[in-house]
Amino acid sequence: MNKERIMTILITGATGFIGKHLCLTLLQQGCQVQALTRSPASLTQLTGFLEHHGAPMQHFSVLEGDLDKAGLGLAALPNDIECLVHLAARFAWHLPRHTARATNVEGSLRVAELASQLGCRLVFISGFMLANTGYLSGLGINPDHSSHTNWDRVYRRTGGYEASKLESAFALRAYATQHRLKTVEVQPATVAGHSETGELEAGQPLYGLLDNLAHGRLAMIPGSAGHWLPLIPVDTLARAIAAACTDDNPPDTLLVLDRTTPNLKGLLQEAATALGTTAPRRHLPMGIMKALLSIPGLPGLLNVARESLDFIQTCRFDTSGTDLFLRLHGIEIPPFGRSLRASGQRYRLTLNPAPQAPRRN
Ligand SMILES: NC(=O)c1ccc[n+]([C@@H]2O[C@H](COP(=O)([O-])OP(=O)(O)OC[C@H]3O[C@@H](n4cnc5c(N)ncnc54)[C@H](OP(=O)(O)O)[C@@H]3O)[C@@H](O)[C@H]2O)c1
Repeated sequence: MNKERIMTILITGATGFIGKHLCLTLLQQGCQVQALTRSPASLTQLTGFLEHHGAPMQHFSVLEGDLDKAGLGLAALPNDIECLVHLAARFAWHLPRHTARATNVEGSLRVAELASQLGCRLVFISGFMLANTGYLSGLGINPDHSSHTNWDRVYRRTGGYEASKLESAFALRAYATQHRLKTVEVQPATVAGHSETGELEAGQPLYGLLDNLAHGRLAMIPGSAGHWLPLIPVDTLARAIAAACTDDNPPDTLLVLDRTTPNLKGLLQEAATALGTTAPRRHLPMGIMKALLSIPGLPGLLNVARESLDFIQTCRFDTSGTDLFLRLHGIEIPPFGRSLRASGQRYRLTLNPAPQAPRRN
């Protein structure tokens, strides 16, 4: 039932942080991987990454496509795809609503149409906030009646990125029901670096947190002792997504987060130790922090976007179903401190690269 199968998998967002690690994992497991990409520069980085890690490149191919174009801008339909993984998204703060929707909602529906045309499984990536029912109801979203949602209000309250990811998840669920499409919705926590090498990219939210800590921009801890930011290492997440592709009968939803992530204070202490700096000790209530960040100029000065604070919550999650699925696939979430230390140490190296040996002429 849970054996790994050789199959052909198409991936959108293959050039992104999670996408690169997913391509590597699937290739290492013997799958054929097709990467849907729109940018030659990103593709060069992806192939460089895969080659550097010794991936079997004869099983890797590319399909040119763009979520923002009708029919994804595909010249022809790909052949023999058994599973489509949808990772691509505009992932940034301060996104205008129409820009965020164009890619994250309308583009996602184009990807679902493609999966439906190909008759294959769609594994799509939403986020762990979809499992936070209190947060959703605070935004006026009833998951059982999402068509009644006032999306204008959600966009105003959470910003373009998060609102479009929420809208996209509900739109994809509705499309799948209507078209009888087999889907797996993967809901990852905030993604940490690789659990051993600490590889983490500059655009990632955790990188921003480490950067602020390293530069002394984080004087106080946002929220209370109950607030936390659940993490998951990128390699564990990649293995979980790969299992969602290859398992014969995967669950409809996978909530992939490390329940042992400590509260934000503990996370910052662990990160500060890895960075060789000191962590803030005093809390600043979330309401005050958000109010401060609505003062023009302050988000830039503090290098914190108000919308990023929505991911720091007090809600705890039941991951027992996902944990069981991961165990069946032999996937263990590594000890929390290890991956955060690796991310912190790797970040430190980017600030102070190891000295090069002197060149001889
Ligand atoms: N990282 C996290 O902490 C986290 C947590 C929860 C959920 N997620 C979700 O996981 C997914 C991947 O995240 P990530 O961190 O890997 O993001 P990322 O590094 O920013 O990568 C985004 C990917 O989307 C592609 N893309 C953007 N617009 C596109 C378009 N119009 N057409 C085709 N491709 C397009 C990018 O391609 P280019 O190279 O061409 O720009 C890139 O490959 C996203 O859906 C995100 O919402 C991430």
